Amino acid sequence: MSVTEQRPPAGEPQQPDTAREELHDRIAADSLTTRRDYLRLVATVSGGLAAGGIGVAAGVLHRHGDSEGAPEPKRIADGLPPGRSIAFRYPGEDDRAVAVRLGDGTLVGYSAVCTHLACGVLWREDRGSEGQLYCPCHEGVFDPRTGEVTAGPPPRPLPKVLVVEERDGSVWAVGATRSGETVRDAFCRQFGEDRPQTAARLGCPGTSPGATDGGGPGATEKGRRP
Ligand code: FES
Repeated sequence: MSVTEQRPPAGEPQQPDTAREELHDRIAADSLTTRRDYLRLVATVSGGLAAGGIGVAAGVLHRHGDSEGAPEPKRIADGLPPGRSIAFRYPGEDDRAVAVRLGDGTLVGYSAVCTHLACGVLWREDRGSEGQLYCPCHEGVFDPRTGEVTAGPPPRPLPKVLVVEERDGSVWAVGATRSGETVRDAFCRQFGEDRPQTAARLGCPGTSPGATDGGGPGATEKGRRP
């Protein structure tokens, strides 16, 4: 069975327009990376720290509109084989998300809330050349590699959730960025004020090569797992 474990959208109550918009905004987070890209970024940011870098990433990637700081890293699976998906909740317990291991091993994560009318988005391995993220309510289809809309009425790409794999094969959700924002831009946004030295190393706009890092919130490792 290739379909995710998400509940079918047909049974979900209709959302009033206002609530629906709030739901859209709340989950308007956007991040995606392959494991290789993530490790490269973490290595850059933390000076070679790869294992254990989950806490570093989680300490700098904030969810859109989240005024309470970065979300905690969350273990979502012991492992995820190619072609399979896992449904989970992240960053909050009301935030439906889905992680997928594509056929070539790439690990991706998205909000599972359709950007059209907030139905649940499902992973369908049997659709398209390498599977699709599919919304059955109005035949919305999203590219599994980018989250971009490829068919149907959804007006915006599927928000993304940063998912990474540890050396033991476990899969973690570690953060999210704003809608349309790249992972690097998310780092720069956070490091710009709190970690100027690191931001300079990343080539973030407006940074100075001679800057030194302080002890701001971006310097913490909030969420480091035990
Ligand atoms: Fe997803 Fe309409 S709610 S396509």
